[in-house]
Amino acid sequence: MKEEVRLNRRDFIGRTTFWAAAASLAAGATQAGNSQINDSTVPPPSRLGVGFLGVGIRGTLLLEASMKVAGVEPVVACDLYTGHLDRAKEVAGSKLEVTGDYQQVLSRKDIDAVVIAAPDHWHKQLVKDALDAGKHVYCEKPLTHRWEDGEDLIKWSKASGLVTQVGSQYMSMPCARKATEMIKSGKLGQITMVEGKIHRNSSTGAWYYPIPPDASPRTVNWKRFIGDSKWYDFDLRRFFQWRLFWDYSGGLPTDLFVHLVTATHQLMGVTAPDQVVSFGDIYRWREYRDVPDQMTALAKYPEGFTLKLTSTANNGHPGPALTFYGTEGTLEYNGGSMTYYYEPRREDFRYPTHSWPTATVDKFKKIMDLNDDLQPLKNPPPATEEPTVFNPGDGTEGSTTAHMRNWYDAIRGEDKAVEPMEIGVNAVNVGHMVNVSFRNNKIVRWNPRTRKVEM
Ligand SMILES: NC(=O)c1ccc[n+]([C@@H]2O[C@H](COP(=O)([O-])OP(=O)(O)OC[C@H]3O[C@@H](n4cnc5c(N)ncnc54)[C@H](O)[C@@H]3O)[C@@H](O)[C@H]2O)c1
Repeated sequence: MKEEVRLNRRDFIGRTTFWAAAASLAAGATQAGNSQINDSTVPPPSRLGVGFLGVGIRGTLLLEASMKVAGVEPVVACDLYTGHLDRAKEVAGSKLEVTGDYQQVLSRKDIDAVVIAAPDHWHKQLVKDALDAGKHVYCEKPLTHRWEDGEDLIKWSKASGLVTQVGSQYMSMPCARKATEMIKSGKLGQITMVEGKIHRNSSTGAWYYPIPPDASPRTVNWKRFIGDSKWYDFDLRRFFQWRLFWDYSGGLPTDLFVHLVTATHQLMGVTAPDQVVSFGDIYRWREYRDVPDQMTALAKYPEGFTLKLTSTANNGHPGPALTFYGTEGTLEYNGGSMTYYYEPRREDFRYPTHSWPTATVDKFKKIMDLNDDLQPLKNPPPATEEPTVFNPGDGTEGSTTAHMRNWYDAIRGEDKAVEPMEIGVNAVNVGHMVNVSFRNNKIVRWNPRTRKVEM
C-alpha cells in the first residue's frame, strides 16, 4: 500500500525528523506487521530450527522478529548474562532452551541456522565456528571489528555454500528499491554529493547504557566476554557498555556510519570509496570512554561523488538520515519514507546583468532570445514542482523483520539473501577507514586490486 502525497516544501521541512528515520532504522522490529500467509491451500513452510548467539538489546529484537516468520522455531539462546537468558525465555516461552556456551548450540543437529548479536569483537569467531558447524548465519552489523578480517569472512562464507546475511536492515527498507530506481533513472541528474547523519543527545545515545542491578560475577561470564581481547579485571562497564571501548567496538564509524554507508552503496550502486579522511573528538561525554562522541568523515568515490558522514552525541536536531544532491533534484532518504525535491535548471541572468545599461541588456535579450524576466522564450524551464513524499504506510513490515524474513526465505531456496558477506564487508570497511584516518591523522586509500586499506 503505497501512499504518495504532494506537500508544500514549507509544510514538509521539519516533518521529516531524524527520529522518524531512527525509529524505522533501529526499531524496525517493533513496528513489524505480521504478514504471514493464512491460506489453507498453501503448504506450511518447512521448519527451521534457530539458535541465538547473544540475546542482549539487539538479539532480543531479532528473536522477536524471527518469531513472526512462519516455520521458524527458536530452539536455544546463548548469552553470557543470565538476565538476558531469563528475558529470552519470557519472550519466546519456556520451551526455549538456554546456555552460556555457544559451542553447545553449534553442536546440535536440530539447529539449521544461527543469529549472531554478540558484541563486535566476537563476530568473526562466532561466524567462523558456525559455518564450520554447517549452520546458516545471520550476523549483525558491523560485521568486522578490524578491516583485515573482512576478506576471510567473505572467503569462508563462499566456501561454505551456506546462506549468510549481514544484519544491516537498511538493505530491506521499504523505500530502498524505489530510491535505487529513481537514482538509476537519472531523475536526480548527476549526483555529486551525498550527506548522511545520525545524531543523538542523551546518555543512552552516548552509549552509557544502564547496568542491570543484579549484574555481578555470579550472573556475568566475564572471561568468555573478554575472549581473545586484552585482559582486564572484572568490569561491568566494559561488559554492558562495550561500545565505549576500542577493544570491542569501532565507535561511531563502524556502529552508526555503517548504516548510512550501506544505504549509500545500495542506492548509488557502488562498493568502495577510494579516499577517506576524518576528524573526531570526545567533546562532552568524557567519562571512561575511548571512542569519540563526535565524528565527521568525507569519503570520495571513484564514481564521481563525495559522501559526508557525521554523527554526534551532543545534539539531536532532526533531519533526514541521508540526502542525495543531484543537478536535477534532491532526495531526502529515511529508509521508511523519502522525499524528492525537483531542481529546475534555471539561469538567473538578472543578477550579473543588473549592472549593465538597459540598451545592453536589451541587446543581450535579443541575442539570447530571452523574455523580460531574462528567461528563454523557447523551452522555458518548467515550473517548480512541489516535493513528492513517498511513505509506504502502515502495511509495510518493519525492516528488521523483512531483512530476517529474506534470510529465512533464502535458506529455504525461495529468495536470494540481499546482504551477503561482501556487501557487509564493503560497508564496514568505510567505517574502518574513518578510524584509520582518525588515528593516523591522514587521508587513507582503498586499493580495489589488493582489497587493502593503504596510507
Ligand atoms: N542492526 C541494528 O540496527 C543494530 C542495533 C543494535 C545493535 N546491533 C548490533 O548487535 C550487536 C549486539 O549489540 P547489543 O546492543 O545487542 O549489545 P548487548 O550488549 O545488549 O548484547 C550483546 C550480548 O551478547 C552477549 N555475548 C557476548 N559475548 C558472547 C559470546 N561469546 N557468546 C554469546 N553471547 C555473547 C552478551 O552477554 C550480551 O548479552 C552488535 O554487533 C551491534 O552493533 C545492531
